[in-house]
Amino acid sequence: MAKEKTSFTCTECGGTSPRWLGQCPHCEAWNTMVEVVSGNTAPARNRFASLARASELTALADIEASDFERTPTGIDELDRVLGGGMVEGGVVLIGGDPGIGKSTLLLQALDGLQRVNVPALYVTGEESGAQVALRSRRLGLDNSQVKVLAETQLEKILATIAAAQPAIAVIDSIQTIYSDQLTSAPGSVAQVRECAAHLTRAAKSGGPCVVLVGHVTKEGALAGPRVLEHMVDTVLYFEGDTHSSFRLIRAIKNRFGAVNEIGVFAMTEKGLKGVANPSAIFLSQHAEPVPGSCVLVTLEGTRPMLVEIQALVDSGGPSPRRLSVGLDRDRLAMLLAVLHRHAGVACMDQDVFVNAVGGVRISEPAADLAVMLAITSSLRGKALPKGFVAFGEVGLAGEVRPAPRGQERLREAAKLGFSVAVVPKANAPKKAGKDLEGLTIHAVDRIEEALDVARGLG
Ligand code: TYD
Ligand code: MG
Repeated sequence: MAKEKTSFTCTECGGTSPRWLGQCPHCEAWNTMVEVVSGNTAPARNRFASLARASELTALADIEASDFERTPTGIDELDRVLGGGMVEGGVVLIGGDPGIGKSTLLLQALDGLQRVNVPALYVTGEESGAQVALRSRRLGLDNSQVKVLAETQLEKILATIAAAQPAIAVIDSIQTIYSDQLTSAPGSVAQVRECAAHLTRAAKSGGPCVVLVGHVTKEGALAGPRVLEHMVDTVLYFEGDTHSSFRLIRAIKNRFGAVNEIGVFAMTEKGLKGVANPSAIFLSQHAEPVPGSCVLVTLEGTRPMLVEIQALVDSGGPSPRRLSVGLDRDRLAMLLAVLHRHAGVACMDQDVFVNAVGGVRISEPAADLAVMLAITSSLRGKALPKGFVAFGEVGLAGEVRPAPRGQERLREAAKLGFSVAVVPKANAPKKAGKDLEGLTIHAVDRIEEALDVARGLG
């Protein structure tokens, strides 16, 4: 095949150069020149362009819109984040740290699909066919009819897809695939972008659903500067602590479903198993309540979950440390300032550590109240009472703001046998009595009030 001409374009200013340069000759930015196939960036001037006829326009209402044809993968927790299953012609990007279970999950999904006669192709660029086979035996997928292709060259992969016509193709991983048309190394931004664009085009033009596996770089970005996220239909991220057996998959973009939906799995020796009722897995087992621990009712996607927030406040040196795992550190600094200013709880000369148990990442501000209650509990060395839960956002003025879907959170806590809840006033049931199946609800307006309630109970 004749090599197409390539040139280099600056990602900052769009300037071009025939050779690779460390610094853009136009805007003088460093390390911004990436290789592109000339034909792809500037379509050749076409002398027939002036003869092209305008396309016909259609009103939105006249376009026939049937719901997407979905193929469930048979793994319920994965289908949940996908919004019901794989969509025809859809392109999914799955990111996550190395070793978190991307290959394992996808092999399980492909095997399930193949068993219901959906032809599946697994393209492996990282492992040999034998290694993949070994994993499938280990997973107990004996006699699997999933087709495996150990190949890294894009053109060959595209040709194989065109010939074999699978309904779903997994590319594990996109960073190992390279196109002959570019001279950059596999894994470079130019290669990853070019290969993903070709595979996406193949999917959109009547090809298979494509699942791209992407490694997250040390900086936390998928394949460099998030170059793929805008190109694909769905972006899923694996989260979780590799030391615990639980894994979460979160949808952060989904053209065919809801975002922020999560799927929960446990890694077992037979692969990943879905956890259908995850509400209580992020609680640690204390026989008796301990200081510095507060259970939060958080809402992930459509499901409420109970997560234990732990805090340790200990006398620090001249520059005390603030550290958080699974929670936002800047937010922690803000909450400490609010505690000091509005509730008179001072941690200036103390180290403060907070942790969300089980490796979950919590980004919603409704965690504020639980974090602050855990911190004060640790500072005072007094445990919160048994069966205690809290949620609610805390503002800079010390006010406690409502959290979305408070009723659902309260119902989940009651269902799991919790007995006392401290919640924002607007989230408390309006009816007299204010209690819910054995759950006593304390509605608060301000952080001082919440601390008073907790002190009164403790
Ligand atoms: P893998 O799917 O290879 O991760 P990724 O593709 O995201 O890099 O997962 C590898 C890890 O999972 C490895 O540390 C071993 C573990 N594992 C199990 O615990 N049980 C199993 O059945 C399998 C196949 C892997
Ligand atoms: Mg892998």
